[in-house]
Amino acid sequence: MKTVISLSDLRTARLSLAETVGLVPTMGYLHEGHLSLIRRAKAECEHVVVSIFVNPTQFGANEDLSKYPRDLERDLSLIAPLGVELVWTPTSEIMYPKGYQTWVEVDTVTRPLEGSMRPTHFKGVTTVVAKLFNAIQPHKAYFGQKDAQQAAVIRQMTRDLNFPVDVIVCPTVREADGLAMSSRNKYLEGADRQAATVLFLALNAAKKAYEGGERDAEALRRKMKEVLESEPRVQMQYVSCADYDTLEELDVVKGKALLSMAVMLGKTRLIDNFVLE
Ligand code: PAJ
Repeated sequence: MKTVISLSDLRTARLSLAETVGLVPTMGYLHEGHLSLIRRAKAECEHVVVSIFVNPTQFGANEDLSKYPRDLERDLSLIAPLGVELVWTPTSEIMYPKGYQTWVEVDTVTRPLEGSMRPTHFKGVTTVVAKLFNAIQPHKAYFGQKDAQQAAVIRQMTRDLNFPVDVIVCPTVREADGLAMSSRNKYLEGADRQAATVLFLALNAAKKAYEGGERDAEALRRKMKEVLESEPRVQMQYVSCADYDTLEELDVVKGKALLSMAVMLGKTRLIDNFVLE
């Protein structure tokens, strides 16, 4: 496994990789969720490239950029046994050199949900992912369903900008009690960690209602809210039952839909979702 930092070292290393190259973009502090993407890429591609970059442009002014957990040595030791060919760990100066002024922005699908709470977030995500696609030129790129809107936004960007990349969305990996794995879970302690299972419980309650025949989207949203409100430590930010592709709120669930939510638990922000097929 080769680790490179500079763009020229990345390009040289990339030239030695033939078909097919799978990319797993990450911000590091890897957990089983990230590793599941790498394993899937390894199963489907001849070569796997992992990027590790805490992208400053996707953090809002009041968000946790400086506190975002980092441990490159540990990350590399977790990746090493998985058969990854190349790891790119660029610096902020490499990605955004002095005088940087080009942005990639996706329109409607970035507006609701996460976009409504974090108005500059997706501009940072799409810009950095476009730069990763250009620099690494993968054939396939792997993203987690955990960040459902991010996956929808990247699918849209890839289509709109004609990137010759297959965007593959992989299932959410969870802790034994259902909490979706996240680098931010390390901030959860004691009672907050226990309370965090309420997201999974709320999603399950709505899914159960859906499986029992409920198709009224407002009833499904209400179900999720009821369960979240049963946990006094949780502050709800949004609860949604939306079209899977456009992320527009639904009145009635007909095709593929996304149940999603964001809450604050103390100072930690948590998101989770289920797909209704
Ligand atoms: P990061 O939060 O490090 O996540 C990297 C990838 O891992 C994303 O595609 C994310 O959806 C996926 N992932 C995270 N938790 C997961 C889980 N529990 N199960 C399955 N997949 C999971 O998402 C980002 O970084 C950044 O926005 C990035 C795309 C790298 C751009 O900077």
